[in-house]
Amino acid sequence: MSEVSNVLNNDLKTTKELLSSSGYSDKAIQYYLDKKNMGVLDDATQVSELTGHCGDTMKIFLKIDDGIIRDAKIQVLGCPGAIAAAMAAMDMIKGKTLDDALKVTDRDIFRELEDIPDQKQHCIRLTNKIIEKAINDCKSGNGNSPKGE
Ligand code: FES
Repeated sequence: MSEVSNVLNNDLKTTKELLSSSGYSDKAIQYYLDKKNMGVLDDATQVSELTGHCGDTMKIFLKIDDGIIRDAKIQVLGCPGAIAAAMAAMDMIKGKTLDDALKVTDRDIFRELEDIPDQKQHCIRLTNKIIEKAINDCKSGNGNSPKGE
C-alpha cells in the first residue's frame, strides 16, 4: 500500500472513530462518508435554500414530474449530522408524491439514521424544514415551479 493511501486510510479510520465515539451509528457514518446525494441537479424543477439558526445552510434540488419527486440532491454547508440527515432524507423522498414527502417526519429520518448525538437532532429538523420549504415553494409557484404543479 502506498504512503498516500495509508494516510488516507488512517484519516478515514480516525473520522469513523471520532463520529462513532460522538454517538453516530455506523449507518449514519456511512451516509456521511458516502455523500451520495450531495450536489446539484442540473434538471431540477425546484430549487430552495434555507439557513438554520446554527448558521448551517442547505440548498435542495428536486426534479418533480407529475407531482412525484423523481430525483433529489442537496448541497450542505454544515456538520456531519446535517450531512448524514440530508443524504438519508433525499433517499427517503425519492419516488414519493409531494404530499407523501411532506409526511416524512424528523422521527422517520432519525430511524433511518439509527442514531446520531442528541445535540444533533436539530440537524434533522433543518433537513426536514428544507424539504417542507421546497415542496411549499413548489406548490405556491415560488422559485422554479415544476410543470404540471
Ligand atoms: Fe447546524 Fe448541524 S449544527 S445543522
